Amino acid sequence: MCGIVGYAGREAAAPILLDGLERLEYRGYDSAGIAVVSGSRALQVKKSKGRLSELSRLVDGGKSIDGVLGIGHTRWATHGEPNDVNAHPHLSQDGKIAVVHNGIIENYVELRDFLCSKGYVFQSETDTEVVTQLLAYYYAEDNDAFSALYKVLHRVEGAYALGIICADCPEKFLAARKDAPLLVGFGEGANFIASDVTAIIKHTRDVVYMEDGEVAVITADSVDFFDAMEEPIEKEHKTIDWDVSAAEKGGYAHFMLKEIMEQPEAVRKTAFSRIRDNRVCFDDLKIDEAYVKSVSKIYIVACGSSYHVGVVGKYNLERMLRKPVEVCLASEFRYSNPLVDESCLVIVISQSGETLDTMAALREAKALGAHILSIVNVVGSSIARESHDVLYTWAGPEIAVATTKAYSTQLVLLNMLGMYFGDILGTLPGEEYESIMAELLLLPEKMERLLSNIEDIKRFASDYFNHNSVFFIGRNLDYAMGLEGSLKLKEISYIHSEAYASGELKHGTISLIENGTLVVALGTYAPLFDKAMSNVVEVKARGADVLALATEKNLAEMKKTVENVMVVPETHTVLQPSLGVVPLQLFSYYVALLRGCDIDKPRNLAKSVTVE
Ligand code: AGP
Repeated sequence: MCGIVGYAGREAAAPILLDGLERLEYRGYDSAGIAVVSGSRALQVKKSKGRLSELSRLVDGGKSIDGVLGIGHTRWATHGEPNDVNAHPHLSQDGKIAVVHNGIIENYVELRDFLCSKGYVFQSETDTEVVTQLLAYYYAEDNDAFSALYKVLHRVEGAYALGIICADCPEKFLAARKDAPLLVGFGEGANFIASDVTAIIKHTRDVVYMEDGEVAVITADSVDFFDAMEEPIEKEHKTIDWDVSAAEKGGYAHFMLKEIMEQPEAVRKTAFSRIRDNRVCFDDLKIDEAYVKSVSKIYIVACGSSYHVGVVGKYNLERMLRKPVEVCLASEFRYSNPLVDESCLVIVISQSGETLDTMAALREAKALGAHILSIVNVVGSSIARESHDVLYTWAGPEIAVATTKAYSTQLVLLNMLGMYFGDILGTLPGEEYESIMAELLLLPEKMERLLSNIEDIKRFASDYFNHNSVFFIGRNLDYAMGLEGSLKLKEISYIHSEAYASGELKHGTISLIENGTLVVALGTYAPLFDKAMSNVVEVKARGADVLALATEKNLAEMKKTVENVMVVPETHTVLQPSLGVVPLQLFSYYVALLRGCDIDKPRNLAKSVTVE
């Protein structure tokens, strides 16, 4: 959730830390802070509630702080409200140690009581301050920050990525990781830590991903890694191959709009690199045909939009494989004593690859003996590393909190997995396979066509942006797509919205429909178009304002009932949500724009959810 950056080099640290934090701000943005140690062994800590711009103003863009080594943090509050005091870095009582932390220390109350009994006085309400004071407590024993850190790590329970500086050692800082992302970047005469590579990509592409239990000691010229037993270890370096511009807005007003527009290319890259001679080829999968045939049941486990991809996947995979597919919210799966065993395939979906709920569900399923196949966007992320098999979505970095291109690439990959398995199992007839493939090859082009004409969507957004309650209704794949459309709208525009299976409305929820309630009627699922239309008529009869979504083929039919219709090209039924979701993303974007919302950084949210 929070973003961490650290720097040891020869240039002024503060501007570099601020720049890194700007790129990490999507991970949390309720407060920010930096701590820099100067050659005279003074720790300067500056922090501020609110956006990073507040902090930047406070320290004059970093110019008012000298020193060539420091750490920074951008926060998504867990313990204690977002304010200056609770912002990181936290400074120990003796003023010698400053700490930034991402994660949650679960036994912080017990540790705080222990420290209080030793005379420590706490300034903040955070769990992180406990780590800081505990470090100071052990540091006071023998003035060795490294051994103090290990003593602390043996006592804390929970998740952490930590960056630690100590006034007495101005040439180095420490980092530690457990269940929260952290990487080390190797530069020329400078080394870094960061929660994610976007923070440091302009300085280096040479990185090492830290694993749970590991500690790093970082100076301008060296990085030493240690395992949980304090033994030195060698780590494998990775080279980041994407372009810096991928993490810039590139002329768009918001990352979200840029990422919506990037979808055709992202889908092309994700799908076409795995198609040869009109066949799906997963060279990146370890599982073989015998394994696929042996699978008794498939689970799809994920959170948020990635879960919504799973809902589409349930419909499509059951259709293509004729095997039971259960889609589960990761946060529920973990505690549900799931009926998973060695015969189950668990497909884990995550853009960030760091979502804690999803990670915990993965570990649970793995412990029960299931094979874990993950669909992940961030290369080298924790979920990718802990899975037996990984299929990467080649969406590039996604910065806007509201996912768009990651959703689309996950969707296309899951459908391709269905084709691949269906072919092996013989449950997807050749003709059907070929017809999906033909449309898959046309998908990016059709997306481009859709994105080149968005004037109607903008107009509908200006017609409806003042509504306070919205229902997305549809059947089958339209219902699954509505879940995503509804989430997009609520997360960036703060309008209350719900997705409902059209046929279910009459069992209760239709009582909420009154004059002026906005209903977004999704009518792209051809097999149930007529049934969906009868539900549209029902809500209209109760006074709803209806905005519809239809394919070019059934536009005329939809127009007989609904005046305002967003249109998408026709494609194969199983792929239709890949096109249908695009106008829903754009509608949410323009509604949020008209409501003056902070689109890329919606309130209370963060891009990577690394707390339970
Ligand atoms: C979607 O717009 C949200 N940002 C959120 O629901 C997200 O999909 C969810 O937190 C899961 O994240 P992941 O894909 O990185 O695991």
